[in-house]
Amino acid sequence: MNTVAIAIDGPSGAGKSTLARMTAKEFGYIYVDTGALYRTVGLFTLRRGVDTKDRESVAALLPEIRIEMRYAGGVQRMILNGEDVTDLIRTPEVSMAASEVSAIPAVRAFLLDTQRDMAKKYNVIMDGRDIGTVVLPDARIKIFLTASAAERARRRFRELRDRGVETDFETVLRDIELRDRNDSSRDIAPLRPAPDAVMCDTTEHDLEASFALIRRIIRERI
Ligand code: DC
Repeated sequence: MNTVAIAIDGPSGAGKSTLARMTAKEFGYIYVDTGALYRTVGLFTLRRGVDTKDRESVAALLPEIRIEMRYAGGVQRMILNGEDVTDLIRTPEVSMAASEVSAIPAVRAFLLDTQRDMAKKYNVIMDGRDIGTVVLPDARIKIFLTASAAERARRRFRELRDRGVETDFETVLRDIELRDRNDSSRDIAPLRPAPDAVMCDTTEHDLEASFALIRRIIRERI
């Protein structure tokens, strides 16, 4: 079967996951959140007390890691060596660990097939940082979603607060800026739009307007 892939890349907090989830529902695709894979490796590394910036030590852990992605009612569950860690990978600490381990080439290579296999089997809308450039360079549609750092921090702060995570706006903004720098400046698969990506800036758009924009981009191309 020939499958169709839609790639959505962009910095943290641009609204990729919310919009990709809505789009997947609308078009009947499977939403693949690839950040969750890096988060799961980050969680494992933290649990083992290994420095997430130490390339060799993190690479040495990889043979001990088995990650499965399961889908239940449209929700992606992350299974780490048999344990469901879906709800444990959403903390600020794991976010930073994910950003750090994602700069390690062995980690990226380790997660590549898992991502490509999903796109071989299903029609997917996949979000991440390098989906249009590295993971699925032949994706039918590529969208690069951005918003200003301050706006992304506002959205992320609201989301964390609503989930009961204690934090303050300044910390969230600093984390976002630091992750932007990490994700864009690393030498392997840095965050960067594919040459054929459609650029989508949502700073001035609320969720409904952003969704309308993405829906139009997809309808025009499929
Ligand atoms: O999308 P997210 O915030 O859950 O991603 C967590 C981290 O994982 C992010 O800081 C960078 C990294 N990541 C990546 O390098 N490549 C991807 N395709 C997805 C995420």
